Amino acid sequence: MAQLWGGRFTKSTEKQVYDFNASINFDKKLLKQDIEGSIAHVTMLEKCAVLTSEEKDAIISGLNSILTDVSKGDLQITSEYEDVHSFVEANLIDRIGDAGKKLHTGRSRNDQVALDMRLFVRDHVKETDRLLRILLESLLKTMEENTETYMPGFTHLQKAQPITLAHHFGAYFEMFKRDRDRLKDIYERMNYCPLGAGALAGTTYPLDREMTARLLDFKGPTLNSIDSVADRDYLIEFLSSLSIIMMHLSRFSEEIIIWNSNEYQFVEIDDAYSTGSSIMPQKKNPDIAELVRGKTGRVYGALISLLTTMKGLPLAYNKDMQEDKEVSFDAIETVENCIELFTGMIKTMKYKKDRMEKSASNGFTNATDAADYLVKKGVPFRDAHGIIGRLVLYCIDKNCAIDDLSLKELKSICDVFEEDIFEAVSLKTCVENRLTIGGPGPDMMKKVIKLSKEYLDNN
Ligand code: ARG
Repeated sequence: MAQLWGGRFTKSTEKQVYDFNASINFDKKLLKQDIEGSIAHVTMLEKCAVLTSEEKDAIISGLNSILTDVSKGDLQITSEYEDVHSFVEANLIDRIGDAGKKLHTGRSRNDQVALDMRLFVRDHVKETDRLLRILLESLLKTMEENTETYMPGFTHLQKAQPITLAHHFGAYFEMFKRDRDRLKDIYERMNYCPLGAGALAGTTYPLDREMTARLLDFKGPTLNSIDSVADRDYLIEFLSSLSIIMMHLSRFSEEIIIWNSNEYQFVEIDDAYSTGSSIMPQKKNPDIAELVRGKTGRVYGALISLLTTMKGLPLAYNKDMQEDKEVSFDAIETVENCIELFTGMIKTMKYKKDRMEKSASNGFTNATDAADYLVKKGVPFRDAHGIIGRLVLYCIDKNCAIDDLSLKELKSICDVFEEDIFEAVSLKTCVENRLTIGGPGPDMMKKVIKLSKEYLDNN
C-alpha cells in the first residue's frame, strides 16, 4: 500500500478501506496527463526559483522515463499505489532520490487531478469532434449522390410527403453540425488551467500560474482557486453533449433498422456490419445499429450519475468527485466507438433507390400537392382538403394511387381537375417544386450541399 500521506496516522488503513478509497485501477488512464502537468509544474517552479535547474532536469527526465517504461510495458501500474499521482511520485523518488520529493511543492492532488482530468477531456473533445467531422463527410457524400433519390418523408411513422434521401440525410448533417458547435463552445469555456489552485486556497509560493497555463496550452489560469478544484461543470457539459450525440446516433440507428427491415428494404446493411442468428439461418441482423441505440442509455447514465454526485457537494473538493472518472471514461470511449462504427456502417450500406421511390409513389404522399393544385385553380384550401380526402378514400377502395385514376374519375369527384393534374402530382414535380430554403427540391438541396461543403472546408 503506497500512499502519499500517513504522518499523522497511528494505524495503517484497513485493507478494505484502502481498496475502497483507491482510484489507481481507473485513474491510471491519466498517466500521460499527470506527467505532462507535472513537467509544466516543475518547469515553472524552477523559473520561480523554488527548484534549482538540476532538480528540475532530474525530475523531468525521471518523469519521462516513467512514461516511456510504462508505454513499453517495462513498468506496470499496479494496485499497490493509491492513485496515479502516488504511482508517479513514488516511482520518481525511486529513480532520482531526494529531488523527486520536491515534485509536489506548491501543489495538491486536488488541483493536480483537476488539471489531469481537464487535459484528458480537452483531448477527447477534440477527438469526438474529429470523428464527427468524418461522419459529416460521409453523410455529405451520400447527399451529393442522392439529390434525386426520391423517398417518402414521414410524420408519426406514416408516409407524409415525398422527399429525397439527400434531404433526409441533410437533417442528420445539421444535427451533427450542431453537436460539433457544442463541442467547440465547451472547449472554449473549459480551456483554463486549474494548476496552482492548491488544495483550495492557492499557495504562498510565488507560483507563476500564467506560465503553467501557457505551457499546457490553456488560454489562461482559472480565476478562483476554490472553484478550480471544485468545478466539474466542463465534464457535465461534455457528458451532456455526448448524450445529445448518442441521442442523434440512436434516432438514426432506429431509422436504419427500420429501413433495413424486410418490410421496408430501403437499405441493405453490409455483411461486414451485420450479424447472423445461431438458430435461424436466414437472418442477417442490424446489430451494430441496435448496439449504438442500446448504448445510448449508458451515456445518459454517466451524465445523470455525475450531476447527482455533484448536486449536494459543499465547496471545495470532496472525495465524491473521484466518482467523475469511471463513468466519464466509459461514456467517452463508448461514444467514440459508436461514431466510428456508425460511420463505417453508413459508408458501406447499399441504398435501394427503386424501393424508396416505389414507396414514395404509393401511400398518397402527393395528397397535399393535389390539394394545392385545386387551390391554384381557385378552390379554397379547406374545401380542397376535403375533396382530396374523399379522393383518397376512393383510391383506397380501388387500391390505387391518385395518379392511377383517369381524368374522368377525377372529375367525378371534382370538376376542377384538368389534364395537368397528372404532371402536378407526379413524384418528380412534388419534390422538384419544394424549393423553399431547407426544402427537398434538388436545386435547393444542391445549394445547401454547397454551403455544407464550405462549412467542412472551414471547420
Ligand atoms: N483520486 C482523487 C480523485 O480522483 C484524487 C484527489 C485526491 N484528493 C484528496 N484530497 N483526497 O478525486
